[in-house]
Amino acid sequence: MSERSFFSISYDLIIWGRRLPYDLYVNSSSLENKQKFVRLFKRDNVLSVDELHDFKKKYHQLYCAEDQRTLYMKSLIQSDNVSDIEATNFIKDSAIKYLHQVFDESKEFSTEVLVETIKGCRDAVEGMIDVLDDYNIDSLRGLIGSLSTHDFYTYDHSINVSMYCIQILRAAKPNATKEELTHAGLGGLLHDLGKVKIPTNILNSPGGLNDDEYEIIKTHPQLGLHLLLDNQDEIGDEIDVEIIARVIAEHHENWNGKGYPTGLKENEIHILSRICTIADFFDAITTKRSYNEVLTISQAIDVMERFSGVKLDPKLFALFAKHVTHSKLETSKMLKLSDAFDPTLPFEKLPLEELDRIFEKEDFGKIKVLDEKDPKEKKKGKNENK
Ligand SMILES: [Fe+2]
Ligand SMILES: [Fe+2]
Repeated sequence: MSERSFFSISYDLIIWGRRLPYDLYVNSSSLENKQKFVRLFKRDNVLSVDELHDFKKKYHQLYCAEDQRTLYMKSLIQSDNVSDIEATNFIKDSAIKYLHQVFDESKEFSTEVLVETIKGCRDAVEGMIDVLDDYNIDSLRGLIGSLSTHDFYTYDHSINVSMYCIQILRAAKPNATKEELTHAGLGGLLHDLGKVKIPTNILNSPGGLNDDEYEIIKTHPQLGLHLLLDNQDEIGDEIDVEIIARVIAEHHENWNGKGYPTGLKENEIHILSRICTIADFFDAITTKRSYNEVLTISQAIDVMERFSGVKLDPKLFALFAKHVTHSKLETSKMLKLSDAFDPTLPFEKLPLEELDRIFEKEDFGKIKVLDEKDPKEKKKGKNENK
């Protein structure tokens, strides 16, 4: 039997005066590198504020069991004393913990790990849906900006995309069911799952990729699809594996049929995949990675508009843009992102062109002057030549 594991919890986030839905533990080992967890408080009892103060005096740190992580997360979401930022940071930590199990190169990939990751991710997504209940896409941006970040871009990015997917679906379908929202969020969280099979030096190389490396990155939708479908039976029927697999496989397909890997177009692409494409694109150009520069929201919407009907579903994009506060005036420069832009690529600098300079280096050839405007000048010039 594998040993039970525990995570530390902050005193400030423990609810008191109400039934506590999880057990509290302390580490009773006096040896620094040994741990022996002993239950201090039994779940489903009411913890009084005096008891909590007493614990605080006696014990430096309290713990919760990993198998009660979701119960702890739900108590944070429901508590009036815990801010959305604190609750979301915990949800984010949980999602990262699960994603790390599959993305960590030092750990061997196995079906058990994948199944545990997907189940954990589903719990995290359900938490996000609850927290984001009274948010819109704008206020979500604010929340994302206040969250703590991790140094591995894929984690932060996947979590942001997941939250955008949930909110875009909510905007597109206000009566979306919890299942639909869960699948939108899970699709977003796992969209780049196939990258677990791509070497990290290729994923994180900001200096640009050669053609062979780009071809390798482009296999990630298919790699992710197979990871999921090959383990479909083990994942079980708690989620619709095929829908998540479609988001993973189709998030780089383009509305005009010129995306990859299969060149699906328009409504052939699953709606949750089309939503994910918008979320993926928007997060890639507005969230700062360690080495890149980003666009303001108005610039991002302006730049994305040029891909509407090309890479992005035009109706969904129009709806998205309507829900994101932006102004035309704020955009001082007219920017255009290179047509070949792929949000999945690492970039140091966004491949942007200023629209009025696009034709700067264009060779117009030798142009004959057809009409002389000032005949006097012409005469003068002629005489000079003599
Ligand atoms: Fe991707
Ligand atoms: Fe992505």
